[in-house]
Amino acid sequence: MIHVREALRADVPAITAILNALIDTTTTIYRNEPFPLADRQEWFDAQGAAGRPVLVGVDDGEVVGFASYGPFRDNERLPGFRFTVEHTVHVSEAAWGTGVGRRLMDELIVRAAAGGVHVMLGAVDSANKGSIRFHERLGFTEQGRLREIGWKHDRWLDMVFMVRRLDG
Ligand SMILES: CC(C)(COP(=O)(O)OP(=O)(O)OC[C@H]1O[C@@H](n2cnc3c(N)ncnc32)[C@H](O)[C@@H]1OP(=O)(O)O)[C@@H](O)C(=O)NCCC(=O)NCCS
Repeated sequence: MIHVREALRADVPAITAILNALIDTTTTIYRNEPFPLADRQEWFDAQGAAGRPVLVGVDDGEVVGFASYGPFRDNERLPGFRFTVEHTVHVSEAAWGTGVGRRLMDELIVRAAAGGVHVMLGAVDSANKGSIRFHERLGFTEQGRLREIGWKHDRWLDMVFMVRRLDG
């Protein structure tokens, strides 16, 4: 039985493992080296300090996915962006298609909307058709495609902005 709860610092190794499993074999994350655990612990602490949610999906006691969001661009320097966030959602391959991604995003959206977020967006690699479809099923629409903005696995990558307005 899958449930969603707020992440604890003790969940950070599982979150790091979920991310690192995607790095070698996919272009989901524009990065070649695994994340060091300390890097993700620093991120988790910063999310907590900023009051931003980090959620995990748990199946039978095991963390199988997580979701969170951060600022879109530098909204301290450019406060006009403060009602927009960029989210992240990742699920372990063994749990794909089990509804955990939707459960995580539903809860993340509730919290974002309650916190006054107007627009939520995900930056998705264009080769990641499953994620584009997933976001469409959750009411996100493609609102921009940046050609050859990334480089990984010896090729240029296009990035798609999947966007959803949360209020009004
Ligand atoms: C994309 C991802 C988060 C989706 O999570 P998930 O738990 O597998 O998705 P769910 O089971 O909750 O599916 C929710 C909906 O999206 C659809 N969907 C999910 N993955 C899909 C895929 N690969 N192809 C087509 N549709 C898909 C489901 O059919 C479902 O639709 P429905 O509810 O209308 O029936 C997950 O597959 C994942 O982590 N993939 C690798 C990392 C990644 O791409 N992260 C996003 C980076 S932007």
